[in-house]
Formats: sequence, structure tokens, C-alpha cells
Amino acid sequence: QILILDFGSQYTQLIARRVRELNVYCEIHPYNHIPPISHDVKGVILSGSPCSVRDDDAPMVHLAAFRHKMPLLGVCYGAQLMAHTSGGEVQPSAIREYGRAKLGTLNTQNTLLKGLEANTQVWMSHADTITSVPDNFQIIASTESVQVAAFQVENEPTYGIQFHPEVTHSTQGKMLLKNFVVDICGCSQNWTAESFVETTIADLKEKIGNDKVVMALSGGVDSSVAATLVHRAIGQNLYCIFVDNGLLRKDEFESVLESYQHLGLNIKGVDAKDQFYKALEGLTDPEAKRKAIGRTFIEVFDQEAHLIEGVDWLGQGTIYPDVIESVSVKGPSATIKSHHNVGGLPDFMKLKVVEPLNTLFKDEVRTVGKTLGLPDAILKRHPFPGPGLAIRILGDITAEKVHILQEVDALYINGLKKYGLYDQVWQAGAILLPIQSVGVMGDERTYERVVALRAVTSVDGMTADWAHLPYEFLADISNEIINRVKGVNRVVYDISSKPPATIEWE
Ligand code: XMP
Repeated sequence: QILILDFGSQYTQLIARRVRELNVYCEIHPYNHIPPISHDVKGVILSGSPCSVRDDDAPMVHLAAFRHKMPLLGVCYGAQLMAHTSGGEVQPSAIREYGRAKLGTLNTQNTLLKGLEANTQVWMSHADTITSVPDNFQIIASTESVQVAAFQVENEPTYGIQFHPEVTHSTQGKMLLKNFVVDICGCSQNWTAESFVETTIADLKEKIGNDKVVMALSGGVDSSVAATLVHRAIGQNLYCIFVDNGLLRKDEFESVLESYQHLGLNIKGVDAKDQFYKALEGLTDPEAKRKAIGRTFIEVFDQEAHLIEGVDWLGQGTIYPDVIESVSVKGPSATIKSHHNVGGLPDFMKLKVVEPLNTLFKDEVRTVGKTLGLPDAILKRHPFPGPGLAIRILGDITAEKVHILQEVDALYINGLKKYGLYDQVWQAGAILLPIQSVGVMGDERTYERVVALRAVTSVDGMTADWAHLPYEFLADISNEIINRVKGVNRVVYDISSKPPATIEWE
């Protein structure tokens, strides 16, 4: 495997994804929390950083711990750090370099740059630049304005590059990473979904043995894939619980339960609608609603878990980005909305935790799910927030409002499917607004509710664009909603991107 040391760059996760795409396993660790280096680690990549090596408190690592022991590749800040700590010089760039550049001069005899074309496009994003390197650093690539675009330390597999090979705008970046990971570090490209499934099931069997595991399922991709893996390992000793919080989509409870039963999972559906509605009564503040739902969920889950005799483990669908975030260089990012799954384990449930997906990215979870034979209905399902429709009903929650929104949402989502648009958007949903507006139906004046439709395209939910749905679809769906859902006389479409708007309205 490859170890990626994170100095806080926005691109660090991308480096990991590119390496994984080469079927090579890698892990990201913060530069200040490096785990003991096992013999599996074949090479190290140092990430970029928003900091400058010239700062007094610049993030540093003791490079001697790796140099001469295994190949090293410094990317951007990582390269500057190598140069700076070896007697080279790093200065502020005369102009801040951001965007595309061409490697006008490059030494393709060098293994790192093997196969790259002359003038290959690379992506630059840096405020500092390496202005001089020690004598034993060979410059192996330059652009028009950056002389030290890439270097190798003589007679050592230690490399630095100023550009970002992990960004797709570096058109041959993946080839460079392959040269490093495969040819220089000697990693074999055998990390695939099939091998992951095989080794994970074997590991789970060994770790859990004959113990019992309890797990809450949500109908979403992560928990479904995680449960399927655990189920393959320990069979009916996995006890799954699916809670109806009364805030799910229309008919979701029944259909999800059915698909889990179809998969052979040992699943119990728990109707806790009233308990949730009661906890939400009169609450209007979004965070207060989230907390009430979280609290109630724990109560219900705990009660159910206690009904299973002798349970030792709690299974969770935590995925890698949650893990990285919770141990990141800067610490967990400021809470914008309280929806992190990591650390969600209540103290009073003293169970051991098993998280079979905690090394995978979302797209890898889907590939693993496909390898396990999970249906598209689960794998391609849009993300849906834990608090469900409660954060799409602005203001207080009542069963009546939930019913109206479920009807609207079902028409909208089915419409997207009918028009072949569902798989083109990352997430879609309807929002019930806390206002009424005047309308006219037949000869009657109406004074009814307004719903907003939201659909976004995104890669990871961190940033999102509003989806440019065809007018024809919007026209049809608006008609259908107003004609068929009693109590709604106006439909609007949300054309805000994230940032600054978030995907959910609350
Ligand atoms: P925002 O609204 O922050 O949403 O742009 C980003 C993604 O996170 C989901 N989301 C949540 N998921 N509990 C969850 O499990 C929550 O409280 C929550 N709030 C937002 C949202 O649906 C989107 O996919």
C-alpha cells in the first residue's frame, strides 16, 4: 500500500482516489498523526497544503524517517518541504500560479515522467515556488514560469512535483501516479472490489466469530452494503433493525423492508412513528428538530437492541470520508449541520464497533455493492438525510404535513424516473414551505401551500449545482402536483447552488 501524508490540501482525497483507481490500496494520515509504518507500505506521497514552508508554524515531518527506506513523492507543498529542508530555497511566486500550465521541458527518460508527452498539460495551484534546489536535486521538468516543476534527488527514489497530478486537468496525471506507485514503489495492482469483498468477509469472520452483531439499516447504500458484507460473514447472527420514524418517503418503509428480506437479511421493522412525532411536537428550529430525532432514534434503537440476547457488536456503515474528516489535520470541520455519523455511538451502549466500509470512498462502496449483487434500486438510490422529511418541512412537523410532502415527493421522484432523469441527478427532493399563497382553481379562490422542488448535480455532496432539468419536465410535474395533491396550489424550482445554499433547506 501507499501512505499519503496529509498537510491539509483540498486535493488530498483526490490523490487517494486516483491511487485506488490504479487498484492500489492507500491510506491518508495527517502529517502529525503518522501510524507505525508496516512493511506493507511501499511508498509515501506528501500532499499539498494551504500553508507555506516559510511560516514559523509550517507543518513539518521528519523526512529522514522515510528517505532511503522507501520511495517518496512530494506534491506541491510536499515538494517545497523536501527542497526547503534539504537546503533549497522556497519564495513567494511573483504571480500566484493557479490553473493550467504546460510542461515545456521534461525528461521522459526519468521513470516518473515515462510516457508523458511534450507540452503535457498540468494543473498548478500554488502561491510559493521553489527558486533553487540543492546540487543533488535534478530538475526533470519545467514550465514557462516554473523552472522547478519536477525534480528527483540523485540516486534516490525521492521525487517532488510542483503541479497536481491528482486533478483531472493534469491530463496525464494518472500516468505519472502510475509510474510512481507501480514502477517506482513496486505496488501490485490487485486491490479490486472482488479482492476487497473476499478479504473483508474473511476478516469479519475471524474478528466476530460466533458473536452477535446488531445494526441499524436506513435503506441507503452504505448501511445496505455494510450489512450485506457482515451477513455474508456471519449469517443470521447479524440482527438488522429498520426504524420507521414517520419521516420516510412514501411507501419507503414497506419497499425497503421487502428488499432487505429478499436479500436474506435477518431484519426487523419497527414502527416508531408516533414516538418521533411526539418528540418533534412544536419544534421549529432545525437543529432542535435534528437533535430530537437523533435522541429518539437512539432510544428506539437501544430498546430494540436490548431485546437481542447477548449482542456484542454494533455494525455501522461509516465510510472513509467520514473517518478522514474526523481525524483531519485541522480537526473535524466546524459543525454547519450536526450530521456526522462518526462518534454517534451513545455511551450507554457499550458495544464493540465493526465498520467494514471505513476504508472506502462512496463510489467504491457502490462497486462493492454491485460485486455483492445488490439491486440498482439500492445502489443507485439518491442520498436521503437521516432526519428525513423533517428537514424538508420548514417549521414544525405534523403527520398531515408529512403526508402532503410524501405525496408531492413521490410524484416528483417517479416523474424523474419516468423521464429518465433520476440517474442524472445526484439528489432530488421536495420541500414544504411554511407559507400559503393565493390561487384559483375552477371558479374558486384558493389559499394553499407552496412546495419547492430541488435537484442537484454533485460528486460528493460537498459542493453542488442546481440541476438544469428540462422545462417540459418541470411543466408536467408542476401540473401533476397541483392537480393531484390536495392542499398545494403552487410549485417553485430551487435554482441555488451550494455554496452558498446547502442542498437541504434546513
Ligand atoms: P447539505 O444540506 O448540508 O447536505 O448541503 C449535504 C448532504 O448531506 C445530507 N444531509 C444529512 N444527512 N443527516 C444526514 O444523515 C442530516 O442531518 C443531514 N443534513 C443533510 C443531505 O441530504 C445531502 O446529501
